[in-house]
Amino acid sequence: MKASVFCVVYMCCILHSNGKEVSDTSHIIPLYRDPSPKNQPWRPYFHFRPPKNWLNDPNGPMYYKGVYHLFYQYNPYGSIFNKTILWGHSVSHDLVNWIHLKNAIVPTKPFDINSCWSGSTTILPGNKPVVLYTGLDSKNQQVQNLAMPKNLSDPFLKEWKKYSGNPIMTPPHGVKPDNFRDPSTAWRGKDGNWRVVVGGLRNNLGVAILYRSKDFVHWSLHDEPLYFGKNTNIWECPDFYPVSTNSRDGIENSAIGINLKYVLKASFKSHDYYTIGSYDADKEKFLPDDHKVLIGSTSDLRYDYGKFYASKTFFDSVKNRRILWGWINESDSSTDDIKKQWAGLQSIPRQVYLDSTRRQLIQWPVKETEKLREKHVSYFGKKLKRESLFEVSGITASQVDIEVSFMLPKLEEVEVLDPKRNDPQLLCSAKTSSVIGGAGPFGLLLMASRDLTEQTAVFFRVFKDNHNHQFVVLMCSDQRRSSLRQGIDKTTYGAFIYINHKDKMISLRSLVDNSVIESFGAEGRACITARVYPKFSVYNEAHVYAFNNGSLDVVIRRLDAWSMKKAKGN
Ligand code: FRU
Repeated sequence: MKASVFCVVYMCCILHSNGKEVSDTSHIIPLYRDPSPKNQPWRPYFHFRPPKNWLNDPNGPMYYKGVYHLFYQYNPYGSIFNKTILWGHSVSHDLVNWIHLKNAIVPTKPFDINSCWSGSTTILPGNKPVVLYTGLDSKNQQVQNLAMPKNLSDPFLKEWKKYSGNPIMTPPHGVKPDNFRDPSTAWRGKDGNWRVVVGGLRNNLGVAILYRSKDFVHWSLHDEPLYFGKNTNIWECPDFYPVSTNSRDGIENSAIGINLKYVLKASFKSHDYYTIGSYDADKEKFLPDDHKVLIGSTSDLRYDYGKFYASKTFFDSVKNRRILWGWINESDSSTDDIKKQWAGLQSIPRQVYLDSTRRQLIQWPVKETEKLREKHVSYFGKKLKRESLFEVSGITASQVDIEVSFMLPKLEEVEVLDPKRNDPQLLCSAKTSSVIGGAGPFGLLLMASRDLTEQTAVFFRVFKDNHNHQFVVLMCSDQRRSSLRQGIDKTTYGAFIYINHKDKMISLRSLVDNSVIESFGAEGRACITARVYPKFSVYNEAHVYAFNNGSLDVVIRRLDAWSMKKAKGN
């Protein structure tokens, strides 16, 4: 039956357009027209980014016939966000090196003439990808549209056409026309029908609005949302997917079975919040394991506690894993962005899977990132006494992948966490890298100048949490001294990581790419992404140090650092 879905879509296309194929080629924008100015110290070289102009959300990532596809919200005319946003398109064989193609979905029709906003891909049976995306129509209403490749035998899927019966969903009752967007990847239930969620705001609740369809073309609204959150503002870019409870393997969105849990993610208030639970397919409800979730509180889980938004996952069928991408925006001003001629990048693609506690996700840069590693240095068993520092030399500190495991000091002697200080970000702002503690602060100084006047400290501090009878590690990324320039957002970020008292080790991995520092604490239990724009500590003037400002000694069990090559396409 499902093989016919695609035919229905194609046929409708032809019928509705009176035999004329719907085509987007009128809006092709050559990407390589003029490359942005060279020698920009803040230009990232191994994070995904088009050669120039503005980028925001990752859209519709997928694997198709040997090729990874990444679409993204793109303004081909400049480095600011405006009304000319469309779907940029790039392809890769390894998730690391990219080829930039012409724009895939561009505003041409009454149902998307004012912008083509975020959406997702679903692979229909028979390996047929289709895209659901938000169009801003001629009245500026947010509507959901369908698009499909013109030629399925082209693995690059260069040409896309829009279903001429678009829009296929319009704002339902109680949802304002500007509060209805970002369809997720769809999944199919036991009854063979498709389900999809669209982000929105309904009666002042952030919602994942649920639709169902037999043929992927005609969608009916379900009375209740899949889930909702109070006081969150609109939910953008909802993502809903199964994860395995007993393996790191990814699970296809429509999989049904035992040993599964479900992740629901919503983007609001500048962060990507997620929660883990189960899915009652009969009642069409997501049931979170924790009851007070997705409300944007400090106890909500986040993919990343720094800059990371509007993310999207996809199931990589060739390597059986689920991969996550998030938009990392700039912390400088729009004036700076206009000068640089680019703004925004995507995170390193991260493999995501459920932690063995089943209470949170683990995220780790995809293995392919290691292809870019070149010059390598390592250290073993190095003791870091109180107020000590040592330089990790011999690598390119402005483009580096660094992994370190710290052996913790005697946990009996650590400070007790004040239960009132339950906001890790505030705690990191108060207890900075120079405030001496018991166990910690210890960690790395990245993109640091020789005199340390410029530096980004990524570090840990260990506390005893008497309330929960366990140990908690505070992970911080402190940007206050990241640049001597003014006019940059230098907010400090923080996250709590709960550890087993038998774990005598905590690891930190940071991927430094000129102006972006993506850090993974405790093997990916907490991630913090920061943007930094140093004035002096750039290129060869950048240094990396390991430090300990705690009163207890810490031992570096092992530290490895690799200079990172430029990725192709950057
Ligand atoms: C999230 C978002 C989406 C929207 C897109 C527009 O960053 O606001 O909700 O579809 O960006 O570019």
